[in-house]
Amino acid sequence: MNELPVNNLYNIDCMEYMKSIPDNSIDLIIADPPYYNVKGDFDFIWKTEQEYLEWFYSCLREFHRILKPTGTLMLWGGLGKNKTTLCRIAIYIEENNLFTMQNWITQRNTRGIGTKYNYMSAREELLFLTKDKKNYTFNIPYTEEKSTRKDLGANGKPRKNEFKRVSNVWNDIAEASQSSIERCFHPTVKALKLCDRIVETHSNAGDTVFIPFIGSGSEIISCIRNNRNYIGTELSEDYFRQAIDRIKSFCPSFEYKTDKIK
Ligand SMILES: C[S@@+](CC[C@H](N)C(=O)[O-])C[C@H]1O[C@@H](n2cnc3c(N)ncnc32)[C@H](O)[C@@H]1O
Repeated sequence: MNELPVNNLYNIDCMEYMKSIPDNSIDLIIADPPYYNVKGDFDFIWKTEQEYLEWFYSCLREFHRILKPTGTLMLWGGLGKNKTTLCRIAIYIEENNLFTMQNWITQRNTRGIGTKYNYMSAREELLFLTKDKKNYTFNIPYTEEKSTRKDLGANGKPRKNEFKRVSNVWNDIAEASQSSIERCFHPTVKALKLCDRIVETHSNAGDTVFIPFIGSGSEIISCIRNNRNYIGTELSEDYFRQAIDRIKSFCPSFEYKTDKIK
């Protein structure tokens, strides 16, 4: 029996909330945390990178504790000039045997951010981390592009799917651009199609997904649309209230119950 109340959102620090989650109880965590000094007020609250890292390492240890043995953590991060933070996080995970690094995915954004003195920055990274080396959910994702090879697959058998498989470079989903209807009050809103790909690939209907950093609510919308149980936390009261309205606008059946932890 699942004693953890699900399908609730909380206006609270995720670290504070996670204290109430029993060990081994979450199937999937999708974490899109502050990246440290990149974008949005929430990225600039730490005095030093070390301070940020210490906070982040404690989050990772909690993520590990609350995930089921078959659970997965999908962790967003940035790379680029002066952005070695995600590398430090990856090294911490490896050195502390926290998760198995299954893959390092690059999301290729269609619009870059650049200066005259450097290449445009048009990527974000997504770490695919599991608690167990082999036992985890992976529902093979396909792109919308038809495969041109009609012959047999590498194993000599007919191909099961006529569409191309998704690789670890995602260049088929555009970010929520300024002109997109998904664009909203939040400076780092993730595209719903991106969230759908993560939710559908790494969990099954009825699973429990924890979203520690709700932001605009994109990942929550995806959980609702795909029949996953969700739990979400957001520190900012302003974002939290606006996210509730945004979730409701995409999912009319959504009802915000309470943010009191039982
Ligand atoms: C990168 S954004 C998430 C964006 C989200 N993926 C979306 O599509 O809108 C990170 C969010 O985490 C929130 N946040 C920062 N620290 C937090 C904490 N300790 N607990 C919960 N939320 C936090 C910020 O206010 C911000 O809205």
